[in-house]
Amino acid sequence: MQKTVESLPTWLRRIERWTVLTGAGVSAASGIPTYRDRDGRWLRVDPIQHREFVESYSKRQRYWARSMVGWTGVDAAIPNANHYALAALERAGKIDTLITQNVDRLHQRAGSKNVIDLHGRLDRAVCLDCGAHETRESLQARLLANNPFVPEYRHIARPDGDADVPEDYISRISIPDCQSCGGTLMPDVVFFGGTVPKPRVELCSDAISRSSGLLVVGSSLQVYSGFRFCRQAEKHRIPIVIVNEGQTRADDLATLKISANAMQRLVAAVDELVPSTEKKTA
Ligand code: APR
Ligand code: ZN
Repeated sequence: MQKTVESLPTWLRRIERWTVLTGAGVSAASGIPTYRDRDGRWLRVDPIQHREFVESYSKRQRYWARSMVGWTGVDAAIPNANHYALAALERAGKIDTLITQNVDRLHQRAGSKNVIDLHGRLDRAVCLDCGAHETRESLQARLLANNPFVPEYRHIARPDGDADVPEDYISRISIPDCQSCGGTLMPDVVFFGGTVPKPRVELCSDAISRSSGLLVVGSSLQVYSGFRFCRQAEKHRIPIVIVNEGQTRADDLATLKISANAMQRLVAAVDELVPSTEKKTA
């Protein structure tokens, strides 16, 4: 695709309906760590695989031990200027659908309405046996009641509501079962090695087919489940604008790539387009 020297405000004005694809970079300023650094390098060790979680009780103990403390950071996080800017852009009628790879629900809390949580949501759990949902608030209370010793430990926050915790108590963790059927609960997120449900992918593809541009914000696009939408946009010959402080896998496909002060420039460009009075009436 032809490279452009035109600016972000020009593109935001020109395109009538965007599909927006966001990633961890959008939530970094809310204190939720990203997965990869600016060079696309992986920052995390050994993420749990879907299969391990499903097949092994001890892996589940490990997951919940870490998640029980990591969740408190996600739960306490509040939306930042990036989330509010994208919500304002939607209210201005410029966004068809916002696809997020984040599981923190901060876009919704900032007022975005048409959001697809591509990789699920951390604020609830789902039963692998009967499909019942339980809010994370309720499950967290049950986890803590079963394991009152856990919050005493110091931890280091990781993406996805994960946290580094000492090894010594992992095997002591007692995991609550599904309240409907006694089955196995899993956070309602797509783990590594898991698959995004097909109907959800189709909703995203439909959005791109209706849109006149794809705006990527704060994602390295290293993961295929997000990257594929760039491929689709390329196929439809709609412009791809990327606002990300680091390298992305789709830099070659982008019509415009903003990397220096990326997030500040996005917020400024939306400010220019949407009068601030409109932005406040959420
Ligand atoms: N402001 C803006 N951008 C930042 C900041 C910051 N403060 N810090 C980091 N970034 C950039 C990083 O340089 C990186 O390019 O944000 C991007 C985030 O990319 P990733 O960490 O790879 O996150 P994401 O693309 O959302 O990951 C996609 O991969 O690990 C899986 O399922 C997980 O949903 C996740 C998916
Ligand atoms: Zn169940």
